[in-house]
Amino acid sequence: MARVLSGVKSTGELHLGNYLGAFRNWVADQDDNDAFYFVADLHAMTIDYEPAELTRATFDLAVNLLAVGLDPDRCTLFAQSHVPEHPRLSWLMECTATYGELSRMTQWKDRGGGETVRAGFFTYPALMAADVLLYDADRVPVGEDQRQHLELTRDVAIRFNNRFGKVFVVPEAAVPKVAARVMDLQEPARKMSKSEDSPLGTIFLLDPPDEIDRKIRKAVTDTETEVRYDRQAKPGVSNLLELLGAATGRDPLVLAPGFANYGALKRDVSEALVEMLAPVRRRHAELSADPGYVHGVLAKGAEKARAIAGPTLDRAMRAAGLLAPPGGFVS
Ligand code: TRP
Repeated sequence: MARVLSGVKSTGELHLGNYLGAFRNWVADQDDNDAFYFVADLHAMTIDYEPAELTRATFDLAVNLLAVGLDPDRCTLFAQSHVPEHPRLSWLMECTATYGELSRMTQWKDRGGGETVRAGFFTYPALMAADVLLYDADRVPVGEDQRQHLELTRDVAIRFNNRFGKVFVVPEAAVPKVAARVMDLQEPARKMSKSEDSPLGTIFLLDPPDEIDRKIRKAVTDTETEVRYDRQAKPGVSNLLELLGAATGRDPLVLAPGFANYGALKRDVSEALVEMLAPVRRRHAELSADPGYVHGVLAKGAEKARAIAGPTLDRAMRAAGLLAPPGGFVS
């Protein structure tokens, strides 16, 4: 069975793009893989943040991941900071990756530099390499924006193995070939995101039905009337067709001729999304009412995670020449 691992940073509210682009695949991957998923709370600290908000966001993200269908009996779900092996291996990764490599990360080039940018924002890809390598992951499902970090993870793993002996499995990035590309409902040329400036353009995972309906009804189309799938010429209409396709498992090209006008299309999209998200909302409410259960899931997840991560860290520290204490590095 392949070991699959992925993480998500605990910042901001989840939206339809997160669900269709990532979490739905995480849920599917539980079936034939040994799947590890975690809330990357340490990664949420690389910019200025509110401590109480981080606490809340971490817990709520775990609730959301359970609500979309991660099943603690079929995968391991944990919070990154509950597994101390992550920051410990990260130091070894920082001492393996080079300044040049980290400087070339697009995320750093776009937003890094400057006196007040946190050092952790620069070294964050080393922590991400540790996240992955601790678990001997074969496959790491990530979005396109994380591909470069996965390349770095591979390079660092290979370098460490060559220098110190074969310690790490070299993972493959799994970037979905045809990602469900969910675009902003108001500006269909850009990706749906949690950004504040497009409140009508984003459908959040927990939006109530009337809110979903309102946003879909207001979604930008064009001045024609024909429902046709054409990303270039009709980005708004095509996005609606793709949403319907993603929610119903059907091909947008095949769906298009079934609609006489934009109103009919919007009605179906809205209905399909409401139906798809209703169980998520329901489970979210149930789980939120039972925080003890969620904490229990995370505690058990951390224990299962440490059972894998501990031996890997011990192996890596010994290989790197650190003097092992009598009981080993991890007890
Ligand atoms: N960096 C990822 C993001 O911003 C989250 C993440 C952290 C991650 N560690 C990871 C993803 C390890 C995959 C594997 O989305």
